[in-house]
Amino acid sequence: MRIDILTVVPRLLEGPFADSIVQRGQDKGLVEIHVHNIRNWSKDTHQKVDDVPFGGNAGMVMTIQPIQDAIDSLRAERDYAEIIYLTPDGERLNQSLVNTLSIGGDLILLCGHYKGVDQRVRDHLITREVSIGDYVLSGGELAAAVLTDAIVRLLPGVIGDEQSALTDSFQDGLLAPPVYTRPAEYNGWTVPDILRSGDHAAIQKWQEKQAFERTQQRRPDLFGEDS
Ligand code: ADE
Repeated sequence: MRIDILTVVPRLLEGPFADSIVQRGQDKGLVEIHVHNIRNWSKDTHQKVDDVPFGGNAGMVMTIQPIQDAIDSLRAERDYAEIIYLTPDGERLNQSLVNTLSIGGDLILLCGHYKGVDQRVRDHLITREVSIGDYVLSGGELAAAVLTDAIVRLLPGVIGDEQSALTDSFQDGLLAPPVYTRPAEYNGWTVPDILRSGDHAAIQKWQEKQAFERTQQRRPDLFGEDS
């Protein structure tokens, strides 16, 4: 899989992909992540990528030309399954959408800055708009990093233990059950006996019950939603 990220502040995206699981995915050749500076496509003499809004409100708006040229140059090289604009008024990201995107094909992620992009970019160039939650970030970069991380960890082979991603919270519409590791007792705090019983069927039953109860207590809304 290949993910191309278009931004005016590429440095914001240097950290999130340089370590851990996403780095491992890249090292293993399972994903290529390319971060591009939209400014490189600007035809303005000062490499401007924004302008004042029509109608005279505060803030600057990202212009069409550099964004369209960036997208066109990427699309000339390969097909993309989706061209996604990260924006707080987009479709809310959840595990189901991440699952879909992880098997759909290559992606372009467009990060907005300032007051966002000219609406015509959204109308004519973007295939999907995604929000990572009901709060406003200073730009789409951190949202793009969140989306990329969530997708990459699902790609086959990225996480060592294949079972691991399948047992994540949300994958079966439930939160994950509690987990414990050694030592079995610390500060007098103990691990539930059942987990040390060796009875795999009983352990699985206990974990399912815990997942159900945890979801009921913390996120009862999940029972009412398609996941
Ligand atoms: N850009 C700014 N805020 C955002 C959010 N909540 N989700 C996605 N992109 C954003």
